[in-house]
Amino acid sequence: MTVTSHDIKTVYEESNATQHYLSPNRKDNVKVYWEEAFSRFVFQEAILSIETPDRQNLRVLDVGAGIGDGYSLLSDLLAQEPSLDKCNLDYLGIDISPEMVETANNLYKNNINVRFEQADIRKKIPETPFDLYLSCGVPYSHLTHEELETVLKMLFEDILKHQCRCAVVIDVLGKYSIEWQSHWGESRWNYNMSFFKSEGQAKPTLMSFYSHDHLENIIRNAASEVGCPIKKLAFFDRSIVVGRHTSTGAFNPTLPKYRNLVNSLLDQNQKTDLNKLILRVESGDAPEYITQFFHEFSGWWNTIIAEAAELLHEPLDVNQVKLPSHLESLDLLINQNFANPSLNNDRQRIELALAEKLQQLEQTCQRGYGVGHDLFGVVWLDTTNF
Ligand SMILES: C[S@@+](CC[C@H](N)C(=O)[O-])C[C@H]1O[C@@H](n2cnc3c(N)ncnc32)[C@H](O)[C@@H]1O
Repeated sequence: MTVTSHDIKTVYEESNATQHYLSPNRKDNVKVYWEEAFSRFVFQEAILSIETPDRQNLRVLDVGAGIGDGYSLLSDLLAQEPSLDKCNLDYLGIDISPEMVETANNLYKNNINVRFEQADIRKKIPETPFDLYLSCGVPYSHLTHEELETVLKMLFEDILKHQCRCAVVIDVLGKYSIEWQSHWGESRWNYNMSFFKSEGQAKPTLMSFYSHDHLENIIRNAASEVGCPIKKLAFFDRSIVVGRHTSTGAFNPTLPKYRNLVNSLLDQNQKTDLNKLILRVESGDAPEYITQFFHEFSGWWNTIIAEAAELLHEPLDVNQVKLPSHLESLDLLINQNFANPSLNNDRQRIELALAEKLQQLEQTCQRGYGVGHDLFGVVWLDTTNF
């Protein structure tokens, strides 16, 4: 069957995407406690490594800003992080969709120094300088690989012109996510935005997927073509086991619904079948280091689940391995949960501690290979002497 691919504006407008983004149902436990926390961690790394003596002002351009989730994540980060709480945010979000821009401007009309404008990043970038060129929710994956390189060239050229220190956060879809293992051999394919189904018709649209090496090549090529020196580069995988399509099953229907299971661990009213959380990743069309990564990572993941299962007297048939020493012990996490008055019994405390330890694993043992739902590339630039 031939699948027609729709252009980005049609996908967002006809799928009633703005309603999807406004819907409270979009925010499950994994999104709030794991994914948003991880994005804030990446943004914090990005901001704190900009070598700027003055952290009084943070000028941000959010590319593909949608209805402004990036603004809300950043303002929460600034409020939480003591070294940034004096920082004044000056935020501009741009998006190709006029409807998103109008909704975002309405949502934040009472916030000072926040505005949204309609723009296609492939054609034009606001000319004023920024400290942080942000993206979240994989907007750059809507572009072809060539378009991404062209956009980065435009950004780097502007940054050279401004003679400044800044960071660029590039959020794209990871090529080797377990959510779409049958597509591991491809870099751009028809991605069905099935998470819009609840509010409208899902539309297939071509999206670009990245391994660490591919994204790094594009970034380095763009920088070297315009003669912009890169100070530092880092990569981060977000949602290795809990990507949203482990829940929809849209691309890998036989995969256990890991996201739902972790949502259940985080929900004190649910009892989770730990056996279903066991991670088995078949070898697919991927380089050896990706297969190795999943082998090691699933060994750790499954050992943590087996530890919790033993405490619940429901032992699992798992080959246990030595865990990275920086991960907190399950006992310690369970003891901390005794201080939480809303947890009434041992099972709730153990399930929550299990979720906390799995989250530590996802956040601290990822390597930025392109094995999660999102791959963040962060580029730090210093063009002050050019
Ligand atoms: C999945 S949404 C993410 C929105 C928001 N950043 C968030 O985290 O919720 C991707 C956004 O990228 C925007 N987008 C796609 N292509 C674009 C382009 N060429 N220029 C500007 N925005 C674009 C879409 O309209 C959409 O709002």
